[in-house]
Amino acid sequence: MRLVVANWKMNKTRPEAVACRDELARRVGSLGAVEISIAPAFPFLADVADPEGRWSTAGQNCSSERSGAFTGEVSAAMLASCGCRYVIIGHSERRKYFGESETTLAAKVERAREAGLVPIFCVGETLAEREAGLTEEVLRRQAEALERDPRDAALVAAYEPVWAIGTGRNATPEQAEETTGYLRGLLGRGDGLRVLYGGSVTPENARNLAVRRGIDGFLVGGASLDPSGFSEICRLTGPGAPV
Ligand code: PGA
Repeated sequence: MRLVVANWKMNKTRPEAVACRDELARRVGSLGAVEISIAPAFPFLADVADPEGRWSTAGQNCSSERSGAFTGEVSAAMLASCGCRYVIIGHSERRKYFGESETTLAAKVERAREAGLVPIFCVGETLAEREAGLTEEVLRRQAEALERDPRDAALVAAYEPVWAIGTGRNATPEQAEETTGYLRGLLGRGDGLRVLYGGSVTPENARNLAVRRGIDGFLVGGASLDPSGFSEICRLTGPGAPV
């Protein structure tokens, strides 16, 4: 089943998160054709969880450590104990602003597995790298963090070109298909792998991307903050939606 993940990033206060949850519950009541996961800020994970199971929750990040004196960190086991199903690992904002290296990310993937979480592992090139023809090389390097991850474990990989994140400039459906296809081959896994596209996904472009071969869903940032637009993206990602 296709998967659409809402990455709220560092947005919404608790009342806003709760209001968004309630609005989402009104809108996605009868969806069912796509799997939905919501990644709110850590303090609202319990508030945003859906007791009716229409969506799961995801952490936006987790620590590379198991537990202990690491002030401000949140462990994968903590996320699992809050009911999370997924954890986003290696988002380009984490790589860029928090200097997360491949070694750190490999440890995070390991922690996620220990806690029974499915990693949503993000990769993607900058504009300069794309223009220099380095996209595949960058993806290969980033994917090294998954080298020790068991090949038969369920995994979500998200191709998110850095130049498309929060810029309003999405990858063309051709670029998204080509690069997600490369990523799938690179990771060399079977049915347990789903490859998402992320980067300025909106209700306007979701369908044209969703019909492309090898795109199993989306990681949505800005457009996921609005429950109306987000539920529209979910509807358009479903198998029966009109082109
Ligand atoms: P965006 O963000 O949809 O706002 O471009 C996507 C992401 O960062 O996951």
